Amino acid sequence: VVTDARVARHHGPAVLKVLRRSGCPVSLSVVPAGERSKSAARLALLWREMALAGCDRSSCIVALGGGVVGDLAGFAAASILRGVDLVQVPTTLLAMVDSSVGGKTGINLPEGKNLAGAFHQPRAVVADLDFLRTLPGRELRSGWAEVVKTAAIRDLALWRRLEREGHALRAGSPAPLARVIARVAAIKAEVVGADERETGLRRILNFGHTLGHAIEAVHGYGRLLHGEAVSIGMVFAAELGEALGHTPAGTAARLAALLLAYGLPVRPAAPLSPARLLAAMARDKKRGPSGLRWVLLRRLGEAVVIDRVPESAVRHGLGRFLAGSTSRKRRKTSTSTSREREEGEHEHE
Ligand SMILES: NC(=O)c1ccc[n+]([C@@H]2O[C@H](COP(=O)([O-])OP(=O)(O)OC[C@H]3O[C@@H](n4cnc5c(N)ncnc54)[C@H](O)[C@@H]3O)[C@@H](O)[C@H]2O)c1
Ligand SMILES: [Zn+2]
Repeated sequence: VVTDARVARHHGPAVLKVLRRSGCPVSLSVVPAGERSKSAARLALLWREMALAGCDRSSCIVALGGGVVGDLAGFAAASILRGVDLVQVPTTLLAMVDSSVGGKTGINLPEGKNLAGAFHQPRAVVADLDFLRTLPGRELRSGWAEVVKTAAIRDLALWRRLEREGHALRAGSPAPLARVIARVAAIKAEVVGADERETGLRRILNFGHTLGHAIEAVHGYGRLLHGEAVSIGMVFAAELGEALGHTPAGTAARLAALLLAYGLPVRPAAPLSPARLLAAMARDKKRGPSGLRWVLLRRLGEAVVIDRVPESAVRHGLGRFLAGSTSRKRRKTSTSTSREREEGEHEHE
């Protein structure tokens, strides 16, 4: 069982008890919590712990934690003894609906995120909603961004459910939450099943990630959570789609309203340089052969991948998008929530 220190504190004993009851010998590896554990050095330590624990071809690695543990332990499982079984036990909302499904595993390099890794499908993904009770609120909200994303690109009925049942879902009502998490995971599995290696359909999962990744890179990882950056990125992608005529007018406003309802930001809080964002986007792996590749919305519930979005359109749109989010403008309103509420009301019109 590989987990991080925080998850170990909350849930380690209970999980170990259940596993030991099965009669299997179990050993536990605990890594520090946080993105920095997705490193080559940490992976090498894990390999050695696995070897010392007597790991053999019949062993199974259980990744108990968020996406960091899932990616790291997943890559360890893919590589130790040329690959052993993996079971993902996600403990964050993001991991339940996104990172535990699809088989991407890996670590970061000083040169960039997720640069080394392997495709290694888990034997099973076991998502127990009780884990979410100890998850900090901000981490939970960040996970909602991927849920909204999935509905926006693939499932209008799910989108409507998110609008309708927002209150129950945010309050963690088990039945509605289980239904939504299972649906989002199923959609990801279906999309990945059709295109495991991301040569086509899987790309739609990157909706909101082109600008989202750039914001993370420019802000420095850690300042904004991934889901927060993706939330902002989705609103921009919807606005860009509207400007380019791919997305019906009003879609970005509706998307922003839903994201705000789930407690997510829809504009950067601090000023960001458009030039640096554009440079970061140009460096991103997700680049088409002839221009920036963007995932846009054809309508709510359906995405389309456009390979040749002119850089001028992105630059222009970005200028407009960011103009609404400088700190100068922000200071005019009392708090971010009141500003967000105003924006939300405005978007509803
Ligand atoms: N493989 C993929 O397809 C894929 C997809 C999306 C993201 N990712 C990766 O996932 C990572 C982000 O995952 P994440 O958002 O789950 O972050 P994370 O794994 O860092 O978890 C966030 C924080 O919550 C804590 N935590 C986790 N579960 C908890 C619980 N139940 N109670 C209390 N605290 C808990 C963790 O210790 C950590 O401090 C990134 O590295 C990203 O690259 C991978
Ligand atoms: Zn994401």
